[in-house]
Amino acid sequence: MFGLKNVLSLAVILPFARLAVGQAAEWGQCGGIGWSGATTCVSGTVCTKLNDYYSQCLPGSATTPPPTTTVPATTPPPGTTTSTGSAPPGLSSIPASTLHQITGFGTNPNNVPVYVYKPARVAANPPLIMAIHYCGGSAQAYYTGSKFAQLSETYGYVVLYPSSPHSGTCWDVSSNQTLTHNGGSDSLGIASAARYAIANWGVDANRVFAVGTSSGAMMTNVLAAAYPDIFKAGIVDSGVPAGCFSLPGQPEDSWNAQCAQGQLVLTGQQWAQRVFDAYPGYTGARPKMQVWHGTVDTVLYPQNFYETVKQWTTVFGYPSTPISNVSEPYLPSGYSNATYGPNFQAILAQGVGHTVPLFEQQYLQFLGIA
Ligand SMILES: *[C@@H]1O[C@H](CO)[C@@H](O)[C@H](O)[C@H]1NC(C)=O
Ligand SMILES: *[C@@H]1O[C@H](CO)[C@@H](O)[C@H](O)[C@H]1NC(C)=O
Ligand SMILES: *[C@@H]1O[C@H](CO)[C@@H](O)[C@H](O)[C@H]1NC(C)=O
Repeated sequence: MFGLKNVLSLAVILPFARLAVGQAAEWGQCGGIGWSGATTCVSGTVCTKLNDYYSQCLPGSATTPPPTTTVPATTPPPGTTTSTGSAPPGLSSIPASTLHQITGFGTNPNNVPVYVYKPARVAANPPLIMAIHYCGGSAQAYYTGSKFAQLSETYGYVVLYPSSPHSGTCWDVSSNQTLTHNGGSDSLGIASAARYAIANWGVDANRVFAVGTSSGAMMTNVLAAAYPDIFKAGIVDSGVPAGCFSLPGQPEDSWNAQCAQGQLVLTGQQWAQRVFDAYPGYTGARPKMQVWHGTVDTVLYPQNFYETVKQWTTVFGYPSTPISNVSEPYLPSGYSNATYGPNFQAILAQGVGHTVPLFEQQYLQFLGIA
């Protein structure tokens, strides 16, 4: 925690303290915790806050509402819904199109608060997205700062937003409990909420997914390692490998500066072992994973991108070099999409800091929802 507090307090004391040199380019970073570069954008673009850690020069004028102020639509666009028009049994008591806290969803040692967003029209056997916030965030902040809820109105899936119970609102990704299948702590509370949704809401057990940013990205890797039986895919935005923060015997939710700074460099086999150790004896399928990271991330250093690549390529038995590595038309220039096999993609974002902006529509494609 102390390392994190230092990071956060530094960011509070020195926000944009250095004089910005020039203007940030289109798609460039223009603000956020830890950012000391340009805070104004080239003309034709607007500096838009995407989360506490990242503001970006987006094309267009100020008339485009920034994602942080996006209010989820209460009615789906006509003709685009895949829904049946009636909620599965168990979901009917949940109010639609609003963030709603659920309780009594099973074993939850740390009393992780969990919120649900149910769209107006839920698909039959809906997919479930567990959307996991960054340090300093909350379920509410991730709900308003992302488009997962808004897009559920189109695609009919259900969103769960866990909220960290810890001071500083990072997730416990360091204790032995959280890093072990059914071992306890935050990961078990989150897993319980997913199990509850499958058991009571008609959620399709084959389409339960985790998505997270920063600390939530670390948790996504932890869930993928410790609960591969529940989570069928994960999207990791600016995180660290599963087990990288491991500090057994120290308090839950400890900050691991060695990992954060990219100094924990292991072999693929050693990283894969951390995944296997998270659920000893598990022989089933592993979640398909998509990992995003910026090359100038100074909170969770970009070495963590390459360590995460080693981890999952080894777990999947994929080659250590990508079979393709290309730019994508929908992504800003400087982003490269490295594919290692059908279940693993790693997107590196040149010149992007902490964190990579969300690309929700593309995540939905990866998850097979859109
Ligand atoms: C980690 O937790 C598991 C399950 O709670 C336990 O079996 C194991 O002995 C623990 N390992 C360490 C190193 O504490
Ligand atoms: C993909 O290619 C880019 C350069 O185009 C390179 O910077 C990046 O490291 C490559 N990605 C991987 C995972 O090797
Ligand atoms: C990365 O490339 C693969 C292979 O072409 C493609 O299937 C996938 O959609 C791409 N991922 C992203 C995030 O663009």
